[in-house]
Amino acid sequence: MLSETERQAIDAEIPHYARKQAVCIEALKVVQRHRGWVSDEALHDVAGHLEMTVDELDAVATFYNLIFREPVGRHIILICDSVSCWLMGYGALRERLSERLGVEMGQTTADGRFTLLPIVCLGACDHAPAIMVDEDLHRDVAPDHLDAILERYE
Ligand code: FES
Repeated sequence: MLSETERQAIDAEIPHYARKQAVCIEALKVVQRHRGWVSDEALHDVAGHLEMTVDELDAVATFYNLIFREPVGRHIILICDSVSCWLMGYGALRERLSERLGVEMGQTTADGRFTLLPIVCLGACDHAPAIMVDEDLHRDVAPDHLDAILERYE
Protein backbone atom coordinates (compact mmCIF):
# COMPACT_ATOMS: atom_id res chain seq x y z
CA MET A 1 0.00 0.00 0.00
CA LEU A 2 1.26 3.48 -0.79
CA SER A 3 2.05 5.54 2.29
CA GLU A 4 0.22 8.79 2.82
CA THR A 5 3.48 10.64 2.11
CA GLU A 6 3.98 8.79 -1.17
CA ARG A 7 0.36 9.31 -2.20
CA GLN A 8 0.57 13.04 -1.47
CA ALA A 9 3.83 13.39 -3.41
CA ILE A 10 2.33 11.60 -6.41
CA ASP A 11 -0.91 13.57 -6.27
CA ALA A 12 1.04 16.83 -6.15
CA GLU A 13 2.44 16.01 -9.60
CA ILE A 14 -0.89 15.28 -11.26
CA PRO A 15 -1.93 18.90 -11.97
CA HIS A 16 1.29 19.38 -13.95
CA TYR A 17 0.29 16.83 -16.58
CA ALA A 18 -2.55 16.57 -19.09
CA ARG A 19 -3.33 12.99 -18.06
CA LYS A 20 -3.04 11.26 -14.73
CA GLN A 21 -1.14 8.37 -16.35
CA ALA A 22 1.59 10.74 -17.53
CA VAL A 23 2.71 11.05 -13.90
CA CYS A 24 3.85 7.43 -13.91
CA ILE A 25 7.60 8.02 -14.07
CA GLU A 26 7.43 10.65 -11.33
CA ALA A 27 5.29 8.27 -9.27
CA LEU A 28 7.82 5.47 -9.65
CA LYS A 29 10.59 7.87 -8.62
CA VAL A 30 8.59 8.87 -5.55
CA VAL A 31 8.26 5.24 -4.49
CA GLN A 32 11.93 4.55 -5.19
CA ARG A 33 12.99 7.60 -3.19
CA HIS A 34 11.11 6.28 -0.18
CA ARG A 35 11.82 2.53 -0.50
CA GLY A 36 15.04 2.32 -2.52
CA TRP A 37 13.39 0.23 -5.27
CA VAL A 38 10.00 -0.60 -6.78
CA SER A 39 8.62 -3.97 -5.74
CA ASP A 40 5.83 -5.82 -7.56
CA GLU A 41 3.48 -4.79 -4.78
CA ALA A 42 4.43 -1.13 -5.07
CA LEU A 43 4.09 -1.29 -8.83
CA HIS A 44 0.60 -2.73 -8.45
CA ASP A 45 -0.37 0.04 -6.01
CA VAL A 46 0.98 2.83 -8.22
CA ALA A 47 -0.77 1.38 -11.26
CA GLY A 48 -4.06 1.29 -9.39
CA HIS A 49 -3.61 4.83 -8.15
CA LEU A 50 -2.95 6.11 -11.68
CA GLU A 51 -5.68 3.99 -13.28
CA MET A 52 -3.19 2.04 -15.38
CA THR A 53 -2.73 -1.67 -15.81
CA VAL A 54 0.21 -3.28 -14.07
CA ASP A 55 1.60 -4.31 -17.46
CA GLU A 56 1.47 -0.75 -18.77
CA LEU A 57 3.31 0.58 -15.74
CA ASP A 58 5.82 -2.27 -15.72
CA ALA A 59 6.64 -1.52 -19.36
CA VAL A 60 7.55 2.02 -18.32
CA ALA A 61 9.44 0.88 -15.23
CA THR A 62 11.55 -1.64 -17.10
CA PHE A 63 12.25 0.72 -20.01
CA TYR A 64 13.60 3.42 -17.70
CA ASN A 65 16.88 1.96 -16.49
CA LEU A 66 17.17 4.05 -13.33
CA ILE A 67 13.97 2.65 -11.91
CA PHE A 68 15.09 -0.34 -9.90
CA ARG A 69 12.78 -3.36 -10.00
CA GLU A 70 14.83 -5.32 -7.52
CA PRO A 71 16.59 -4.35 -4.29
CA VAL A 72 19.79 -2.36 -4.70
CA GLY A 73 22.63 -1.35 -2.40
CA ARG A 74 22.75 1.80 -0.29
CA HIS A 75 24.83 3.44 -3.01
CA ILE A 76 24.54 3.08 -6.77
CA ILE A 77 27.70 3.18 -8.87
CA LEU A 78 27.00 3.99 -12.52
CA ILE A 79 29.94 3.43 -14.83
CA CYS A 80 29.75 5.02 -18.25
CA ASP A 81 30.33 2.57 -21.07
CA SER A 82 29.86 4.97 -23.99
CA VAL A 83 32.50 5.67 -26.58
CA SER A 84 34.70 8.34 -24.94
CA CYS A 85 34.91 6.46 -21.69
CA TRP A 86 35.43 3.23 -23.54
CA LEU A 87 38.42 4.76 -25.33
CA MET A 88 39.81 6.38 -22.20
CA GLY A 89 39.98 3.40 -19.87
CA TYR A 90 36.52 2.05 -19.14
CA GLY A 91 37.77 -1.53 -19.35
CA ALA A 92 40.46 -1.18 -16.69
CA LEU A 93 38.11 0.83 -14.48
CA ARG A 94 35.36 -1.73 -14.70
CA GLU A 95 37.77 -4.54 -13.98
CA ARG A 96 39.15 -2.80 -10.89
CA LEU A 97 35.66 -1.95 -9.64
CA SER A 98 34.53 -5.54 -10.00
CA GLU A 99 37.64 -6.80 -8.25
CA ARG A 100 37.42 -4.23 -5.48
CA LEU A 101 33.70 -4.82 -4.82
CA GLY A 102 33.59 -8.55 -5.57
CA VAL A 103 30.63 -8.13 -7.93
CA GLU A 104 29.93 -8.13 -11.62
CA MET A 105 27.86 -5.55 -13.46
CA GLY A 106 24.28 -5.54 -12.21
CA GLN A 107 25.13 -7.05 -8.84
CA THR A 108 25.10 -5.75 -5.29
CA THR A 109 27.92 -6.26 -2.78
CA ALA A 110 27.34 -8.83 -0.05
CA ASP A 111 27.19 -6.10 2.60
CA GLY A 112 24.52 -4.21 0.65
CA ARG A 113 26.75 -1.16 0.32
CA PHE A 114 27.09 -0.81 -3.46
CA THR A 115 25.29 -1.82 -6.64
CA LEU A 116 27.32 -1.61 -9.85
CA LEU A 117 25.46 -0.67 -13.03
CA PRO A 118 26.35 0.44 -16.56
CA ILE A 119 25.06 3.70 -17.95
CA VAL A 120 25.26 5.55 -21.23
CA CYS A 121 27.13 8.85 -21.55
CA LEU A 122 27.14 10.92 -18.36
CA GLY A 123 27.89 14.10 -20.28
CA ALA A 124 31.48 14.28 -19.08
CA CYS A 125 33.14 12.98 -22.25
CA ASP A 126 35.90 15.59 -22.07
CA HIS A 127 36.81 14.14 -18.68
CA ALA A 128 36.46 10.45 -19.47
CA PRO A 129 36.31 7.96 -17.97
CA ALA A 130 33.49 8.97 -15.70
CA ILE A 131 31.44 7.28 -13.02
CA MET A 132 28.57 8.47 -10.90
CA VAL A 133 28.07 7.41 -7.30
CA ASP A 134 24.57 8.32 -6.16
CA GLU A 135 24.27 11.98 -7.23
CA ASP A 136 28.02 12.62 -7.45
CA LEU A 137 29.80 12.71 -10.80
CA HIS A 138 33.47 11.65 -10.73
CA ARG A 139 35.52 12.58 -13.78
CA ASP A 140 38.95 11.53 -15.07
CA VAL A 141 38.73 8.45 -12.89
CA ALA A 142 41.75 6.15 -12.92
CA PRO A 143 41.65 2.72 -11.28
CA ASP A 144 43.97 4.01 -8.55
CA HIS A 145 41.42 6.68 -7.60
CA LEU A 146 38.71 4.17 -6.75
CA ASP A 147 39.65 3.44 -3.13
CA ALA A 148 39.55 7.14 -2.21
CA ILE A 149 36.24 7.61 -4.03
CA LEU A 150 34.51 4.58 -2.56
CA GLU A 151 35.51 5.27 1.02
CA ARG A 152 33.33 8.39 0.97
CA TYR A 153 30.21 6.22 0.78
CA GLU A 154 29.33 4.22 3.87
S1 FES B 1 31.16 8.83 -23.01
FE1 FES B 1 31.39 8.64 -20.87
S2 FES B 1 30.78 10.59 -20.15
FE2 FES B 1 30.38 10.68 -22.28
